[in-house]
Amino acid sequence: MNFFTYKKGDLYCEDVKVRTIAEETGTPVYIYSAKTLRRHYRAIERAFVRTKPLICYSVKANSNSAVIALFASMGAGADIVSGGELFRAVKAGMNSKTIVYSGVGKTAEEIAEALARNILMFNAESIEELEVIEAVAALMGIKAPVSIRVNPDINPHTHPYISTGMKKNKFGIDIRYAREAYAVARSKRHLQIVGIDMHIGSQLTSIAPIKDALKRVLGLINGLRRDGIEIRFIDIGGGLGITYKDERAASPDDYAAAIEQTLQGFSGNLILEPGRVLVGNAGILASKVLYRKENGMKKFMIVDAGMNDLIRPSFYDAYHEILPVKKTRSKRFKQDVVGPICESGDFFAHGRELPVLEQGGLIALMSAGAYGFSMSSNYNSRRRAAEVLVDGREYHVVRARETNEALIRGEKIPPSIKTRSNHG
Ligand code: LLP
Repeated sequence: MNFFTYKKGDLYCEDVKVRTIAEETGTPVYIYSAKTLRRHYRAIERAFVRTKPLICYSVKANSNSAVIALFASMGAGADIVSGGELFRAVKAGMNSKTIVYSGVGKTAEEIAEALARNILMFNAESIEELEVIEAVAALMGIKAPVSIRVNPDINPHTHPYISTGMKKNKFGIDIRYAREAYAVARSKRHLQIVGIDMHIGSQLTSIAPIKDALKRVLGLINGLRRDGIEIRFIDIGGGLGITYKDERAASPDDYAAAIEQTLQGFSGNLILEPGRVLVGNAGILASKVLYRKENGMKKFMIVDAGMNDLIRPSFYDAYHEILPVKKTRSKRFKQDVVGPICESGDFFAHGRELPVLEQGGLIALMSAGAYGFSMSSNYNSRRRAAEVLVDGREYHVVRARETNEALIRGEKIPPSIKTRSNHG
């Protein structure tokens, strides 16, 4: 459920016309609905009313400070994977005591920054990482709170690029060796074991694989108890899918019921790391039609957003619904919707049935709130899009469109290269 709807033929975000935002801020522009973000957060919170988990918003899904701040103001914590995300999360008002730090490649420097911030815990993904955390904590003269991310070897049945809990994936420590890893952690003077973690993949429409993985993790927790290791936090990651096209994604209520039922008997605290389910359908990317053309075989709609703005179609062959921002009765044709970038992979849709829009007409790429802007780049030296947050009748530019100057920030032409720009 989201707040992007047509009123008298015009697409609105809450009470603001998408066309007004596009005209005032220019295109391409990401538009997020605050009301939808809040609604999604509450849906998860309510679904888990019995276990009252710590909901650590997975910042990578949409890292805009305003979005992080909105969730922080609702009581969320954060799931981070880099020093940059730590910086953003703290700056946006996240309480560092509610931050969990995941990721296979944390550097010693990042670990030190996170320790200095006093985060809730590291989800360690290898024995060597545990050793680095130990070394850094020893230098700082403190104890580092750690969980171990286990790889439960479960097929989550999602796109191979976003499945993370199978043996062939780089993530976590193989569950069969996890007891040994915990023994290593226990032997370290500067590590404090606080929990266990898993995350088996993203855009999961069925809960069964999460449940199966969780059962394996609970089995491990029993084994650890026999080893004298108590687990306080169980972090089950994120991964709940959303509807992009016609997927029947499990609801937060079904998800919560399955998890709470499986967790019966576990007395610790639950941690969730939702990303996409909170932000995916709360955002769109609005773009303008630059040109139309056809070659006898195909019709093309060339728009001003490119794969640098929204890479999911190019990268995962992902489906994003495309809506005209102004409804039209004009005839519909199969069209390729493509961007301006010099790559054949720069497309949003192939053979999509859409009305032929006027030059200058606007389209909305729907469900672009997750892994949209956060995966964007400057490829082809394109300035990254503006981001807007709508809240009721108001809208706020929460990230200005990048400037040309920002494109070359930090670059330097060495003096040995004589050009007009550095030679007189
Ligand atoms: N926790 C961990 C450790 C993760 O790696 C992820 C996502 C999440 C939580 C949040 O998962 P979510 O609830 O959003 O499914 N770029 C891809 C998705 C990559 C997901 C990476 N990890 C896409 O556009 O579909």
